[in-house]
Amino acid sequence: MPESFRRVPAGLTVRAPAKINLHLGVGAPRPDGFHPLETVYTSVGLYDDVLVRPAAAWSLGLTAADHVDADAVPLDDTNIVAAAARALGILHDRPVVAHVEITKGIPVAGGLAGGSADAAAALVALDRLLDLETSDEDLLHLAAQLGSDVPFALYGGHALGTGRGEVVTPLDVNDEPLWWVIVPSSEGLSTPAVYRHFDALSPDAPAEPRSAEHVLKALETGSALALARTLFNDLQAPAIDLRPELGTLIAQGEEAGALRGIVSGSGPTVVFLCGSADEARGVAGALQETGHTALVANGPVAGAHVVAPPTF
Ligand code: C5P
Repeated sequence: MPESFRRVPAGLTVRAPAKINLHLGVGAPRPDGFHPLETVYTSVGLYDDVLVRPAAAWSLGLTAADHVDADAVPLDDTNIVAAAARALGILHDRPVVAHVEITKGIPVAGGLAGGSADAAAALVALDRLLDLETSDEDLLHLAAQLGSDVPFALYGGHALGTGRGEVVTPLDVNDEPLWWVIVPSSEGLSTPAVYRHFDALSPDAPAEPRSAEHVLKALETGSALALARTLFNDLQAPAIDLRPELGTLIAQGEEAGALRGIVSGSGPTVVFLCGSADEARGVAGALQETGHTALVANGPVAGAHVVAPPTF
């Protein structure tokens, strides 16, 4: 049989988006070490794809965009996608094996929940590939076990996050597109290290995290300018203290025309909210001229979803 007619085993691809925290209020650490959060998540059109194919044994491969540090992603059992497969296997009491190929567009250790996107995409992809018929409730439960940001990566859109971030309530607000410029750093920041630095800088942090009320009100108006004024991140000060150049970058993007720049989650990615697609392209161009990688994306977008149907 000619090579081109050989059948490729059935597979499918699931795509999951990066997140930005429009509000990230952090309280004093709980007894389990996690910090109580009140956060407003939004999803943006910067994605990781997870392709799964049937296989007799587990294997994991990776392809990455130029702005992603592929070497920072482990391909062994510590990868969160392998953890997602094990969690599904325990739930269904059966082996969950596949060939998995991750295509990363989301920077690693960037404060954009790239690993969480991979976990969410893998849960959905492996569930479909192996016809596991996992209920939505079980998928959300497994997602929360895998990481605080994984449930949101299943939902997408805009959502309120409480608990340690894993208790997600979708928000039915105006979903006028928001235009962002996303500026990754060449070196990631460890999320636990940024939380530890928050503890060191804020020994008197309140038990209750700061309320998201201002961001929630601004979101309802659909005005990017109103939203820009309310963006808030308790992890910004510790991230800038660890990486002072992030403060300079925020000022530079705002001078170039962004409505507001803010550290994304635990950083070091800085995201700029802009008034329109044109303004975002202008800000990205100005930052690129000074040697930064600057990506334009809009949101909100859908959570983990199948993009390529089974191939045969
Ligand atoms: O839940 P996830 O695995 O993403 O968390 C990574 C680390 O970030 C935790 O081990 C913890 O150190 C820190 N973290 C935290 N409080 C949160 C979320 C994460 O202290 N609400």
